[in-house]
Amino acid sequence: MLRLPQRDLRCHQCALRLSCCVNAGDNGIALIGFMGAGKSAVGRELSRRTGWPRHDTDEMIREQFGISIPDIFARHGEPAFRDAETTLLKTLQRGLTGVVVTGGGIILREENVRLLRGMGRIIWLDADEEILWQRASRYSTRPLLQTPDPRAQFAELLRERLPFYQTAADYRINTSSSTIAEVTDEIIALL
Ligand code: S3P
Repeated sequence: MLRLPQRDLRCHQCALRLSCCVNAGDNGIALIGFMGAGKSAVGRELSRRTGWPRHDTDEMIREQFGISIPDIFARHGEPAFRDAETTLLKTLQRGLTGVVVTGGGIILREENVRLLRGMGRIIWLDADEEILWQRASRYSTRPLLQTPDPRAQFAELLRERLPFYQTAADYRINTSSSTIAEVTDEIIALL
């Protein structure tokens, strides 16, 4: 596991570095990462092993709209989904102990990253691109991959997002050749 260098994001309220300020409530874990990184599976295992409640933003947004994520994108558009992510993070109680499992694009908004930092440490689950692709393309539930050339779109999105994950994360775990249990062990070692 890689401990990432301090980022230089600032708290909007007091202008301190986020790592000094919002991250004061270091009592939860937020999992970020690209599609196929294993966030949902690791989140479930982490919640089971710690007994902490699990808050899966995709699941909660699906329930809120009462339709699947591809249908949310198709009927309401991606901006509505992104707004729902931010609104949901605001409603998740600050300082609450828990495991927050996020969708791959949640880090695109700086506000979301700030809210996640208020919930504890941010762990970036990563893997080699080909492995991410193999995992993510197994199911057709990703609206962003419903394009004529999903593989190229996948590579492009990953390239665009890497700096966002890098900036947001406290820790990066490469899950390419680890089991769900092994990744969970690594996270538990941080607690
Ligand atoms: C998205 C990833 C999805 C889901 C939505 C958008 C993204 O979650 O939030 O389809 O922008 O990368 P997973 O990362 O769990 O696939």
